[in-house]
Amino acid sequence: MTTLSLLFMAMSVALITAESTVYFREQFEDGDAWSSRWVESKHKSDYGKFVLSAGKFYGDAEKDKGLQTSQDARFYSLSSRFEPFSNKDQTLVIQFTVKHEQNIDCGGGYIKLFPADLNQEDMHGDSTYNIMFGPDICGPGTKKVHVIFNYKGKNHLINKDIRCKDDEYTHLYTLIVNPDNTYEVKIDNKKVESGSLEDDWDFLPPKKIKDPDAKKPEDWDEREKIDDPDDKKPEGWDKPENIPDPDAKKPDDWDDEMDGEWEPPMVSNPDYKGEWKPRQIDNPAYKGKWVHPEIDNPEYTPDAEIYKYDSISVIGLDLWQVKSGTIFDNFFITNDPKLAEEIGNETWGQTKDPEKKMKESQEEEERKKREEEDKKRKEEAKDEEEEEEKDEEEEEEEEEEEEEEEEEEEEETDSKLKDEL
Ligand SMILES: *[C@@H]1O[C@H](CO)[C@@H](O)[C@H](O)[C@H]1NC(C)=O
Repeated sequence: MTTLSLLFMAMSVALITAESTVYFREQFEDGDAWSSRWVESKHKSDYGKFVLSAGKFYGDAEKDKGLQTSQDARFYSLSSRFEPFSNKDQTLVIQFTVKHEQNIDCGGGYIKLFPADLNQEDMHGDSTYNIMFGPDICGPGTKKVHVIFNYKGKNHLINKDIRCKDDEYTHLYTLIVNPDNTYEVKIDNKKVESGSLEDDWDFLPPKKIKDPDAKKPEDWDEREKIDDPDDKKPEGWDKPENIPDPDAKKPDDWDDEMDGEWEPPMVSNPDYKGEWKPRQIDNPAYKGKWVHPEIDNPEYTPDAEIYKYDSISVIGLDLWQVKSGTIFDNFFITNDPKLAEEIGNETWGQTKDPEKKMKESQEEEERKKREEEDKKRKEEAKDEEEEEEKDEEEEEEEEEEEEEEEEEEEEETDSKLKDEL
């Protein structure tokens, strides 16, 4: 055996040990069987119902079937369990598709990953989770992708703003968490954000703090400009802002005894120059802004395993929706980002264009139907108008006839009168 083939074998072993694992996959492609895999919480009695549906428009009637929220203004609480795993020393990839085909006004489109000890039948908004990930929309103000990690018992939101999709099409959301404490968020298989867990969340106290013992020296001059000591207020600068009107005259009929002593009204003084201010010059003693020296924060302890969860075992949809209709599909949890991307391409990537086409042709049909209805309505309105016109003409004719008759009668009476006379 050559060294080269030995090396090749060693490499193959390495490839095998780095093999990808699929922890969870749900495509909803076996009819009603999903309901045996998903558990609805009984924590509240009036959770909204998820139904299996591909929606009003889709790329593939079967493949695009997913869980759709079906009741407005409801909480939803549904979850599915899988073999517990830890992401220690492993990349963790969470991926799924969301379609807000109802033109969502306010509602969650995110998932939560829970540890194995979650009681699914009692899952609710305050149930402890590991990670919450996905889009959240509420009005024009909130359109973001949540990435929340539970770290040492506390939920931490990402410090960055990741905008989510707000149209009516299916979109693919992917979160990748690496064992080197970095992460990446992708939408539709394109990176939209990435960075380090430590930098983009407040898991740890800051590395450095301001030295509490350091103080700005008393004589530290932070004034960049000062008054010019050579600039003096010119003589005669100070004049009153208002003066008695020099043109005013005491009225002739003014009675000092009755009206009191006459005083002219005040007017603004044309010579008034305002407050005098000395010219500004560079401060020769200026030392620059004082910078508070920093020291290592004694509270800070680095953590190489921020990313790590000992137990991940349940995926849940725990959300609120005002206008229902959102479809969740293609749940995929793995340790292999490339595989997730491939699966994303094979699912969302395959159906997104036909889905768009179907929606567009539906809209085109609706537009045509509307046009035809408009045309019909206009024609009907026109017919009515014509009939009304006809009626009016007839009425006019009748009126004319009546008038003529009346005139004739009048003439008749006239002649009668004449006759009698
Ligand atoms: C997924 O599809 C995109 C676009 O066609 C392509 O660039 C990418 O290489 C594909 N990824 C995988 C892992 O096949």
